[in-house]
Parts: sequence; structure tokens; C-alpha cells
Amino acid sequence: MSIATPTSNVSKESEEAIFSRGLEGIVAGETAICSIEQGGLFYRGYEIHDLAKNATFEEVAFVLLEGHKPSAAELARFKGELVAERALPPSVIAFLRETGPALKAGTAVPMDVCRTAIGILGHIDVDCQDNTAAANLRKSKRLLARCPAIIGHMQSVIDGRELIEPATGGDPKLSHAANLLYLMTGKKPSAQFEHCVDVSLILYAEHDFNASTFACRVIAGTLSDMHGAVCGGIAALKGPLHGGANEAAMEMLKRIDKHVQGGGTVEGYMQRAFETKEKLMGFGHRVYKNGDHRAPILGALGREIAKGQGPESLKWFEMGDRVQKIMLDQKKIHPNVDFPCGMTYFVMGIPVPQYTPIFVASRLSGWCSHIMEQHANNRIIRPLSRYIGEPTRSWNS
Ligand code: SDX
Repeated sequence: MSIATPTSNVSKESEEAIFSRGLEGIVAGETAICSIEQGGLFYRGYEIHDLAKNATFEEVAFVLLEGHKPSAAELARFKGELVAERALPPSVIAFLRETGPALKAGTAVPMDVCRTAIGILGHIDVDCQDNTAAANLRKSKRLLARCPAIIGHMQSVIDGRELIEPATGGDPKLSHAANLLYLMTGKKPSAQFEHCVDVSLILYAEHDFNASTFACRVIAGTLSDMHGAVCGGIAALKGPLHGGANEAAMEMLKRIDKHVQGGGTVEGYMQRAFETKEKLMGFGHRVYKNGDHRAPILGALGREIAKGQGPESLKWFEMGDRVQKIMLDQKKIHPNVDFPCGMTYFVMGIPVPQYTPIFVASRLSGWCSHIMEQHANNRIIRPLSRYIGEPTRSWNS
């Protein structure tokens, strides 16, 4: 069967229509934002190790949204715009407070609350229904700026504490990463914690046509608005097969630890997982087959923090090493970025249900870049399906 070229007008009756479950291996569009290769991960041509070592999240978000490395003046302006927009409107704060009992009861989870809060931000954003490039860029910055306060104030409500500086959305002197931690805990983070979260935000920022980004593009492709597309992206990212894996990976490690404390072994847990076809969270990837370039970068930072804290923290990374070795030896499956993220955020004391909302705070930069790219050169995304239902039949037969 010949392979249809992306530009060919293929109908499903024709021989050329391509069927692939989960669109595996299908090129579904073009982008100038990110390139994922077995040999490297690139944001607008900048390689991920280069960015993690030499850039800050604010600089990476600027590159993704604006397409070039910011000058000193551009960066200062961009940072000033983000700081000025950090505070949440009263209606969002009221919503977060009202959702407190449901959050404490566990019926509402932070990812869903984050999604609704972003939805409310859309209702009160003067640019919400305007899909022009200028309006979309303004909305992107407001969403990026306010997401940390959604997470931080939500955590204060869960903990039964006063909100941290709701009038300003945190401390204007703190970086994006440091302010996120400050809003969650009320304490100014150490330079090491600030750097680790900043790098995690860089690593999570963008990843081409992953499920949540593709969801954003499908929604933007109907010429719907950015807030609606981002709400769709958050719903997609929540899933444990996608962004929710960073929380699920830590919960899995806690189950393995409990199993070991009860006299079992890591090997025994893994064998049973293989027998029951359990998906090991934080492992595998649709695109990477020889390992996720981001995982070792974040793992090294988390392990450093754990080493400084002592054996009770380091044990998670030692257990993780054993899980990783078994997965590689027996399944030839590598960890993805969510595996080290779980352990790293855990030893930093970040509540597990906030791991994926932090992923949102970062991936907003990628999602908004893709939404702008889709709006700027749009074609509605509408694939074909292969029908496997009932043959044609008459209603009155
Ligand atoms: C993210 O796309 C992106 O770029 C996403 C992301 C981003 O930055 O946006 O990188 C972020 O979502 C990373 C992935 C996080 N998810 C998880 O860690 C959940 C666990 N992983 C799996 O569910 C799975 O690996 C996926 C979903 C990540 C990839 O799924 P695929 O490509 O559809 O692969 P598959 O499920 O068809 O697996 C192929 C084989 C199967 O074995 P068989 O049934 O053929 O015998 O590998 C096995 C799978 O059972 N396998 C696993 C496994 N992952 C694959 N077996 C056990 N544990 C796993 N984690």
C-alpha cells in the first residue's frame, strides 16, 4: 500500500488512507516549535541540555512564545509583564476557597480545580474571544503568570492556611520557579530548590505533538479560543498515561516501599507487575525508544537534593535505580521524565497531587505556542475513521 503524502487529498475509499492506532507514526501536522529526535530534543533549535544548563524558565517560555532568544531588555520586559499579572482575580480566589471542602474530601482533585480556575480566567479575560496573534500572546502571558497562584492558593486552601500574598500573587522579587514554591509553602526556597524546579519547568515546557498539545491544536483548529483549548489540554494531561504519570510514578514507588517494608522485594513486586500486565508508571514513551533525554537531567538534580537530606530521601532514588534496571533488563523499557520527577518533587516536600498541576504551569508555554501557531496557519484537524460496526441494515426489516 503506498503512503499518502501529507498534502494529498486522501479519501478513506482510496487505497492510500493510512490507519494507525493512536496515530502512532503518523505525521499529523507541521510545527516550528519543537523537534523530538532519538538523538536530541530541541525547542526552536535550542537543544534541551543547552537550555537546562544555560537558560531560565522565563527565557525558555519567551523563546517558545516569541520564537527567538530574548535580549536583556526583552527579558526584563517579559519578566515584568509576568510579575504584574501574577495576582488572581477575586472570582478565582473565591472559587478556590469554595472548592476547599471538596479538595480535602478528595472528590475534587487539583488538576480538575486547575482546569476550572483557568476556565474562570477565560470568562473575565477581555481578550478571550480574540484569536489574533497579539491577543493570543497577551493571554499566554496572563495564563503563564497566574498558574502558580492557582496552584499555591489551592495548596493553602487544602492545608487550611491563609493565602500567601494574594494581592500580588507572591513576591515580585522572586523568579517564576521560586515564587511557585513560595506560594505553595509560604517559605522562600533555597537556591538549590529554586534551580531544581526551574529546570523541571524547562524540561516540561514543550514536547511537540504529545496528547495534550495535540488536543489543544484540535480545539484551536476549529477557531475556538485559547482558554478553551488550554482547558482541553489540562484534561488530557491529567491522565496517568500522560502527565498524570509523575504523580502515579511516586504512588507506585510508595507501594513498592510498602511491599518491601512488609518483607517483600522490589524484584518480587516487579515480577507480579509483569504477570498482571501492570503499567509501570514513569516508564516507556511513544516516541523515545532509547530513553527520554530529559529524565537523566532531572534525576541528577533530585538525587543531589536527596544526598544532602540523607538516607531516608536517598532510598527513593536507590529503589528507583533498581526498578529502572529491572525494566531495562527484562523489558528494554526506559524511564521517561515523569519517573525522576516523582522522586524529585517528593524529596522536595511538594504534595503529590500538585505534581501534574506544576506540569501545567510549565506546559502552558508549549500549549500557548502551539495554539498561536495553529491559529496563524489553520486547517481544521479532522482525521478519518475505519468503520468496524454493523453492516447496512433497514430500519423496518
Ligand atoms: C508523558 O508524548 C509525549 O511526548 C508525552 C510526554 C510529554 O512531555 O508531553 O513525554 C509526557 O506523557 C510521558 C509518558 C508518561 N506516561 C507513563 O509513564 C505511563 C506508563 N507508560 C505507558 O502507558 C506507555 O509507555 C506510554 C503511554 C507512555 C506509551 O505507550 P505506547 O507507545 O502506546 O506503547 P504501548 O502501550 O503500546 O506499549 C508497547 C509495549 C506493550 O507491550 P505488549 O502489550 O506489546 O507486550 O510496551 C509495554 C506495553 O505493555 N509497555 C509497558 C510500559 N510501557 C509500554 N509495560 C509496562 N510498563 C510500562 N510503562
